[in-house]
Amino acid sequence: MSDKKATLSIDGLAEAVELPIYSGTLGPDVVDVGGLTARGMFTYDPGFVSTAACESQITFIDGNKGVLLHRGYPIEQLADESDYLETCYLLLYGELPNKAQKEKFVSTVHRHTMVHEQIRTFFNGFRRDAHPMAIMCGVVGALSAFYHDSLDISDEQHRQVAAFRLIAKMPTLAAMSYKFSTGQPFMYPDNSLNYAENFLHMMFGNPCEPSNISPVLSRAMDRIFLLHADHEQNASTSTVRLAGSSGANPFACIAAGIAALWGPSHGGANEAVLEMLEEIGDVSRIDEFVARAKDKDDPFRLMGFGHRVYKNFDPRAKVMKESADEVLAELGLENDPLLAIAKRLEEIALHDDYFIEKKLYPNVDFYSGIILKAIGIPTSMFTVIFAVGRTVGWIAHWNEMISGSYRIGRPRQLYTGHVMRDYVPLQERK
Ligand code: ACO
Repeated sequence: MSDKKATLSIDGLAEAVELPIYSGTLGPDVVDVGGLTARGMFTYDPGFVSTAACESQITFIDGNKGVLLHRGYPIEQLADESDYLETCYLLLYGELPNKAQKEKFVSTVHRHTMVHEQIRTFFNGFRRDAHPMAIMCGVVGALSAFYHDSLDISDEQHRQVAAFRLIAKMPTLAAMSYKFSTGQPFMYPDNSLNYAENFLHMMFGNPCEPSNISPVLSRAMDRIFLLHADHEQNASTSTVRLAGSSGANPFACIAAGIAALWGPSHGGANEAVLEMLEEIGDVSRIDEFVARAKDKDDPFRLMGFGHRVYKNFDPRAKVMKESADEVLAELGLENDPLLAIAKRLEEIALHDDYFIEKKLYPNVDFYSGIILKAIGIPTSMFTVIFAVGRTVGWIAHWNEMISGSYRIGRPRQLYTGHVMRDYVPLQERK
């Protein structure tokens, strides 16, 4: 915080309005516009392009430089040296765990991986062809009907247990949503496996054979979870905060986050990338699609390109690209035709004036889809996997908000509808 001030002169107001300016540890200063309401004015910022909705200590992004820090640690270092559950600890508690803390955290997550048996029955209410994100919205929200002992948001212990339950059960529910669509039996978690291995075991295993999980693939899966763990106040995290600000329980809030993540402008983009690559179908058709992306009259966009905050390479995309190379080499898929399209598309976009001018770089979703496809994950599960990884970020932000002082989130509007008018009885209407 600082004692800097902004002065705003408003037409029709004799006195200028003084607005306090606050400085964070990194990033742009913010102007506190709260005082404007008393002058009968609101600020107007559709899409929250220049609005800081809260104060937070979890994640920092410098979009121009392509920097992403979790609790101060660069994402590249975490991706190289840490693992998903350790990063979860960091996001939740603010510091990296020591050895004993890490062991305790990991074993607590492992002890919460099973879901209430009645949840299996709950799945039967869905159609077999339901999109797994539709199932996740429903089932995660329904957890609040199963775990009544972790719903008191004013109790720190309840919040902790809810956090463990959500982080631990998301992979189980995600795998169940896939198994349900295939008609195969749900797999119980195997707590001797690490987080990513366990997810792959529940996705691809069956009760008749032992699971055989490649360490390269489980490492790539862990990295995907880690790279998606948090991204400050994105659409889904802001949704979780907004839902939480009304006092809603954590399971309901995370279900709201899952719903917000689903759209193709956010988490749904990884699924959309693969669909787009399949639609392009051949390297020879790339120019046609690039031309469409540049055409103002065509709504088509190159999926996996562009980001609201990054106007430089998304640092997660760089790491994801490395993982994609490792996974494709491990699986002998270096000559995969979709990968060839992806690589050529990336090359063209990085050298095309339109994409350069608008600073549209490949984002994390561009490469994650390629890895997931190579691992054998069906396209419809891509966004679900994003949701599994992002759960910890949602909880960390929700918990940060609930543990501090907060008010219900209630934006205002610029009203452009009818002015007041009298009701017209039905028989008098034209
Ligand atoms: N292809 C072609 N043109 C694009 C693209 C794209 N992928 N993205 C943005 N543009 C153009 C827009 O047409 C616009 O052009 P204009 O100024 O001439 O009107 C300009 O770039 C700015 O775009 P906006 O939509 O205003 O940018 P915004 O910050 O609102 O949107 C978003 C960011 C939603 C990510 C956008 O770039 C997009 O739709 N990308 C494709 C979907 C995608 O990959 N989403 C994943 C985001 S990352 C994540 O959630 C993990």
